[in-house]
Amino acid sequence: MREQTLKGKTIILGVTGSIAAYKSPQIITELKKRKADVIVVMTEKAKQFITPFTLQNLSANKVITDLFDVSYTPAVEHISLAEAADLLLIAPATANIIGKLASGIADDMLSCISMATLAPKLICPAMNTNMFKNPIVQENIAKLKKNGYKFVEPAFGRLASGVEGKGRLADIDIIINGVIKILRKKT
Ligand SMILES: Cc1cc2nc3c(=O)[nH]c(=O)nc-3n(C[C@H](O)[C@H](O)[C@H](O)COP(=O)(O)O)c2cc1C
Repeated sequence: MREQTLKGKTIILGVTGSIAAYKSPQIITELKKRKADVIVVMTEKAKQFITPFTLQNLSANKVITDLFDVSYTPAVEHISLAEAADLLLIAPATANIIGKLASGIADDMLSCISMATLAPKLICPAMNTNMFKNPIVQENIAKLKKNGYKFVEPAFGRLASGVEGKGRLADIDIIINGVIKILRKKT
């Protein structure tokens, strides 16, 4: 079956500090296969789980992390990235980034871009099952949904901690289908 093309689409992929960050190379590969331009924005904590070097090579674009990196051009990188995006995909999304977005906190590159972009946003949570069930996390998700953020539900299964439950990053093909569905509607 021919794959849906994402040619001409710029996708900002936010990667946060979840153990599931090791799956982000697969997400980049699937998006690139469909000819999307993928710009990776990593949090500082995400760098503990996967290297910018790997993601830069797979995406063929500079990986963005530091809000105050003087080498960026133009000077207000987070605004230009926010404007360039056809979609902001955050996968995996930690409880922390979900909390920051729901509270209007913009204290790093990814949260600033999220706040500044008018592009659709697709959030793919991945976390320990108790974290995911935490009423505050659930309230944050509900608040973001109310404000137009789209979510790909995490999956049930064996988590990194060894326990079974809901919290695993959704399957990559479900995430990619979510991206395609949003971008198809947008054009
Ligand atoms: C081994 C390990 C695995 C973690 N996995 C997750 C996770 O899957 N989901 C999550 O929400 N937080 C996870 N955390 C906690 C986050 O890394 C932490 O909340 C961090 O502040 C998130 O920062 P960020 O959202 O800026 O990337 C993990 C921490 C460690 C040490």
